Amino acid sequence: MSTETRESWSGKLGFVLAAAGSAIGLGNIWKFPYITGMNGGGAFVLVYLGCILLFGLPLMLCEITIGRKTGKNPYGAFKSLQLKRSRTADVIGVLLMLGAVSLAASGHYGFAVILFAAACLFVWLGFAAVGLISLITAMLILSYYAVVGAWIVDYVYRSFTGGLHFTQVSEAAGAFNHYLDREPGRIAAELIIFMVLTAAMIIFGIRKGIERCSKVLMPLLFFLLLAVIVRGVTLPGAKEGIRFFLNPDFSKLSIAGVLEALGHAFYSLSLGMGITITYGSYLRKDENILSTSLWIVALDTLAALLGGLAIFPAVFAMQLAPDAGPGLIFNVLPATFYRIPGGMGWFWAGLFFLMMTIAALTSAAALLESGVTFIMDQFKVRRVPAVIGTFLGVTLLGFLTCYSTNHWENLPGIEHFVQNVFNVRTGSWFDLLDKLTSNWLLPLMGLLTVIFVGWIWGARKAGRELREGTHGLVDENLITWLSGFRGEPRYMEAANSGLTIMTLWGILIRFVGPVVILAIFIQVITK
Ligand code: PFF
Repeated sequence: MSTETRESWSGKLGFVLAAAGSAIGLGNIWKFPYITGMNGGGAFVLVYLGCILLFGLPLMLCEITIGRKTGKNPYGAFKSLQLKRSRTADVIGVLLMLGAVSLAASGHYGFAVILFAAACLFVWLGFAAVGLISLITAMLILSYYAVVGAWIVDYVYRSFTGGLHFTQVSEAAGAFNHYLDREPGRIAAELIIFMVLTAAMIIFGIRKGIERCSKVLMPLLFFLLLAVIVRGVTLPGAKEGIRFFLNPDFSKLSIAGVLEALGHAFYSLSLGMGITITYGSYLRKDENILSTSLWIVALDTLAALLGGLAIFPAVFAMQLAPDAGPGLIFNVLPATFYRIPGGMGWFWAGLFFLMMTIAALTSAAALLESGVTFIMDQFKVRRVPAVIGTFLGVTLLGFLTCYSTNHWENLPGIEHFVQNVFNVRTGSWFDLLDKLTSNWLLPLMGLLTVIFVGWIWGARKAGRELREGTHGLVDENLITWLSGFRGEPRYMEAANSGLTIMTLWGILIRFVGPVVILAIFIQVITK
């Protein structure tokens, strides 16, 4: 039994920067700009902001509150907050079993087995299953996220050594595909480098490791982002890119786009996978959960918007077309930067990929930390062995992605297995993991977390924990506050009842969140 007391963040700044480091990642700079461009620009941004405020922020408050109240990893946290056997968890278990049967009937045996296992977990562990599944999700995400990190490390190296000399997207794409298909060994080596850097960030613990690194890396990230933006928007023809990114076009917005916005809001804020519970578990009681969450959300959204401004103006100014997914970063951008007049393309590409490395590293550290905290808490293991164990497990899993990103040919046995057992005909292990985690597991775990806090633990008890450290801010009457009547005696009598931040939060997590997320799921399933 360990007798050490649990570590904590040194203060608000440390926590906000570390949590913003977890939130700001490839999702902001690589995924958000592209999905925004494709789903109607400014129209999508508005829907995304709505999702962040209505679902993202309330869920973040739930996760930090769960973490701080219990001071435990997600599994331990859910376990200690559910007082008795939960009927609701049994019902969820039965629903998942029905889902498993219907998946089996349609030939998706692999997914059916996974769903069946999840159903058993719910019946066996109650809501602690949410904690456990979210931890597994985090490790799965890290296993492919780190591979993208490995590609980025490669591109930093290539930028500064003159290896990215392409003026055409097709040339850059040829080189990238060659790299993915023919150089898995190189990617595996870079994966190890990336994972070693990630492990190095957390091996010294919360304050001396994650916090200290975040305090240097996050300001550096924003500085590099701004430098690349200044270069991009001052190129002739850059306006077209800003228009593509931000001009609202509601006709391009579909229900699939709304689901994408919701899923991305969770992904971008690192919600629904236990990370924020883990980071919250190291937060002191006197910190203000509300204001720290607002800061994290604001920084994450700012980084996403800046990400778009770093990419599209330059792409359009160099008369290139934005591409999908990895292609945008690894094919279009190298050609974009190389075309910038003045012969300094390698420098801008280098800065850009360096900035991406930082974004990816601080997010990967959060993912790894959630596995490490779990092992330390549950098995009473010290930090160093816990980091080494988690590092090895995730890196081995990551090798699967390295060898199967574009095609499965490198791993014929696995190709066969995935195609037959999961009934997935297209895409790769990478796509499978990405779709499974971001489109399904995150929103599902997010849904279960708000239901847990709103109905099982209970908004009242959770609210008490949330209130601590907020100096009454959560109990301000919103109506008197927003209408400018704050301080007026007539209105102050009713100040603590009616619509306050706290009661609004309760309504959002108990009703609005569950109903909307479920409705979107049903839309997608029945489509
Ligand atoms: N929020 C990160 C991003 O936007 O790239 C991705 C991520 C990192 C998700 C860490 C989850 C996580 F725990």
